[in-house]
Amino acid sequence: MNLIFDTESLATSLLCSRCGKHYSIKELRSFSECCHKPLLVDYEAAVSHEKSDLIGRENSMWRYSEMLPVFDKSNRVSLGEGMTPILPMSRMAAKCGYDDLWVKDEGQNPTGSFKARGMSAAISKAKELGVKECVAPTAGNAGGALSAYCAAAGMKARVIMPRHTPMAFQDECRFYGSELILVDGLIDKCGQLANFIQEETGAFNVSTLKEPYRLEGKKTMGFEIAEQMNWTLPDVIVYPTGGGTGLIGIWKAFKEMIALGWISSSKLPRMIVVQSTSCAPMVDFVNGNNHNEPYGESKANGLAVPKAFGQDLIKDVVKESKGEVVAVSEEAIIESALELSKSEGISFSPEGGATWAGLQVLVDLGKVLKEEKILLINTGSATKYMKNILA
Ligand SMILES: Cc1ncc(COP(=O)(O)O)c(C=O)c1O
Ligand SMILES: [Zn+2]
Repeated sequence: MNLIFDTESLATSLLCSRCGKHYSIKELRSFSECCHKPLLVDYEAAVSHEKSDLIGRENSMWRYSEMLPVFDKSNRVSLGEGMTPILPMSRMAAKCGYDDLWVKDEGQNPTGSFKARGMSAAISKAKELGVKECVAPTAGNAGGALSAYCAAAGMKARVIMPRHTPMAFQDECRFYGSELILVDGLIDKCGQLANFIQEETGAFNVSTLKEPYRLEGKKTMGFEIAEQMNWTLPDVIVYPTGGGTGLIGIWKAFKEMIALGWISSSKLPRMIVVQSTSCAPMVDFVNGNNHNEPYGESKANGLAVPKAFGQDLIKDVVKESKGEVVAVSEEAIIESALELSKSEGISFSPEGGATWAGLQVLVDLGKVLKEEKILLINTGSATKYMKNILA
């Protein structure tokens, strides 16, 4: 296909995240053939793009369109995702003695989670490259987002989800017209079936980090954190980690903003990975622990990812940012989601609750100070998890 682009995107190519080999961005790709690792989008650094260019732009993640991979604006599939508020957690801060505590409320995205950002970018780019049919494994939220964005793009979607996922997530996929397949097991089992369906049907596989563009959508959280905080970053960002796309994306955004001259490299946030003790592969991987038991389910469904395809990139972010990894109990996750929601009036998903539980552990260990500027990422709203939370 010979594509002619009407471009404002500064994307130039795809790079293997391990060896840096270049791949063309004009063809449909999944992960790197050289090293079997995620592909990262590279951007033209020499072009002048000022942060003042953003003034007066639309109130969605597409305000950063130069730093997104879609070349022709008519291919954008947008439902108004992004520019979620950063809210003060005033009552919890006062109660627990924090000076500067904030939450980015990603539950306010279309379909109720940050997955909307990734799917908006991925489905837009898939549309640009001629895709007609997608398949993806999901822990819940990504399936709803894929279903909505494929509906908006007029594409067929197949979603593969663990059978134990709360019914609200299942219903949402059917509601938007996608085909839902339930599997006994965790998201890794769903991923195996997605690979098979991809081979059998030729559907494009939108599995986490097995295509390059969901990461680009999620990185807009990083751009927004800087812009909404007036280009001064928090000391600490606490992120509930499953496949790690959001964490890797936020860090990628910081590096891109340094290259653009929008922020200084002198003080970047420490990036904190929080997982559930029932499924904490990143805590084990970063700490070099041997873990021989199979990882289990979590009421924070998005955290139940037994092996992240992007595990090397997650580890790099923790190391480079001088961050931490921490696992918290299932009880602490649910108690925190309830406590925060009741205290702040914000709908905290179990994953959002996990960030608070993780923060308490790190404060107790003296690794985070209550005087620091702390930002929790509430990656989704609690609405679809009521079966898990109130059971
Ligand atoms: C609400 C929520 N939080 C966190 C995650 C984990 O996301 P990531 O792949 O960015 O680590 C998920 C993934 O399903 C999710 O739905
Ligand atoms: Zn490579």
